[in-house]
Amino acid sequence: MDKLLRSPRISKPLILKRFHSTNLLENSVSNSDNRLRLHEEKYTADMSTSLPPTVKAALNDLAQETLSQFGNAHMMVPETQGSLLHQLVKLFGAQRILEIGTFTGSSTLAMASALKPSDKLVTLERDPKPQEVAKRYIHQLNLEDRVDMRLGKAMESLIAIAKEEPRPQYDMVFIDADKKGYIPYYDFIIDNDLLSDRGLIIADNVLFFGQVHRIAGYEDDNPVEASKNVRKIAKYAHDFNKHVLQDSRVQVVVLPLFDGVSIISKTKV
Ligand SMILES: C[S@@+](CC[C@H](N)C(=O)[O-])C[C@H]1O[C@@H](n2cnc3c(N)ncnc32)[C@H](O)[C@@H]1O
Repeated sequence: MDKLLRSPRISKPLILKRFHSTNLLENSVSNSDNRLRLHEEKYTADMSTSLPPTVKAALNDLAQETLSQFGNAHMMVPETQGSLLHQLVKLFGAQRILEIGTFTGSSTLAMASALKPSDKLVTLERDPKPQEVAKRYIHQLNLEDRVDMRLGKAMESLIAIAKEEPRPQYDMVFIDADKKGYIPYYDFIIDNDLLSDRGLIIADNVLFFGQVHRIAGYEDDNPVEASKNVRKIAKYAHDFNKHVLQDSRVQVVVLPLFDGVSIISKTKV
């Protein structure tokens, strides 16, 4: 969540206000705290190598459509995060990707467009409405052969995946759904050996709205007003961060990028 929505190229209207379904983002994360680095984010997008033109155009259209049709459009990954995911898929030569939280498909398109035709991305979503939008753009980019969309509760889909023969292993797992589910999703993936030895789990929003470190008591002298809901979700994110850190089977780096991104890999023996 907490994603910057903008369309590339046009300068002024591009920097759209970030917002949140609670309508409290501007109150809960003050700009004077340098949390809403909107112009800096626009600069990073402009200074980053563009995604392939057809992908960039589709993501732009998708962002506009999502913005006009969904109250929670802020959930899309920002442009630079999409570029990072795209580049990571290429760098790691990921052949199998699992995504938890499709929404309208921004991150799905960014990652799937970096795959080769024989590779696969499985993406899980419980809400048919945004999934339909994602489906259309996947079709538009001719990525249907690479993208397998599953509708239903993420945990039920994960259980079904673990029963597949042969059991799949993923080189990249992008967790970007309900924060309460992060620990169960993570545990299920690790316990059921769904992550390949060279695989990465990328967990999004682990610094949720700049509130997670505050919940953990790191900035008591500089509290920022936050809604009850934001604080509740920040607590889930903090619990997840502690849980992963305590798991000796993995190593993790928590990065203050975007809304907070953790990169998790298996500990090598
Ligand atoms: C933050 S959005 C994902 C954003 C997406 N990665 C993007 O870049 O546009 C989270 C999505 O997870 C979905 N979701 C939340 N809880 C879920 C659950 N238990 N099972 C499946 N999907 C869930 C929501 O419906 C929502 O579309």
